[in-house]
Amino acid sequence: MTLASSNRFSFVAPIYDFLARAYSFGMIAESKRWQVQYLKEGERVLYAGAGAAEDAVLAAKAGARVTIVELSGGMLAQTKKRIKALKVECAHPIVLIHADVMCHTPEHPYDVVVANYFLNVFEPRLMQTVFSHLNTLLRVEGKFFIADFAPMKANKWAAMCQKLYFYTAVTVFRVVAGNGWHPLYDYSGMLVNNGFRIDQKKDFRLGVCGPAWYRSIIASKH
Ligand SMILES: C[S@@+](CC[C@H](N)C(=O)[O-])C[C@H]1O[C@@H](n2cnc3c(N)ncnc32)[C@H](O)[C@@H]1O
Repeated sequence: MTLASSNRFSFVAPIYDFLARAYSFGMIAESKRWQVQYLKEGERVLYAGAGAAEDAVLAAKAGARVTIVELSGGMLAQTKKRIKALKVECAHPIVLIHADVMCHTPEHPYDVVVANYFLNVFEPRLMQTVFSHLNTLLRVEGKFFIADFAPMKANKWAAMCQKLYFYTAVTVFRVVAGNGWHPLYDYSGMLVNNGFRIDQKKDFRLGVCGPAWYRSIIASKH
């Protein structure tokens, strides 16, 4: 299966991190950075659809053995710049793979698979297929990390504002990158339904006391 159309992310690659910071008041970066404390030195970690790889590079700096599989050549070019600008040498060089992650079949499963702001690229059915594939790349007892939009709030007014905020991004990336159209996903529910245990979960607020519209999850595979 090929998802080559997602290569359209190259168009926004040079400004993607800037846009994400501005749109989320830095919470997208924060939700990814938070995960790094749960990585152990020497662990084999896959970053699927890593974009410009701010999280993957932090993981490598913390001593993880990082592999990035990214479809967009433009995003990989940004990652290469980021690696070149590093002031410290990582214990293990980052492996960069320019490919569709659906075609990625490593010899050994990973200790950790990370899908940050990646599964939301796909419409519901394709998202399940991509998740299932990523699950096959993870060893038993391994960890799945997901940072992404938090699920819909119960309060009617809160949910309305959240929808407006979320669908602004969905619409822009549908036009710019050809992303799928879909509702807010409940990744915790999906992980539990697929036999994972949620070990840690943290919500991130817009501003100091704004709404908690971002969530980072650490889950273990059983
Ligand atoms: C919304 S961006 C998120 C990037 C990054 N994870 C972050 O948090 O900033 C999604 C990324 O997934 C990549 N992508 C989309 N489909 C892919 C696929 N099938 N295989 C690998 N990467 C893919 C895109 O090129 C893009 O860089």
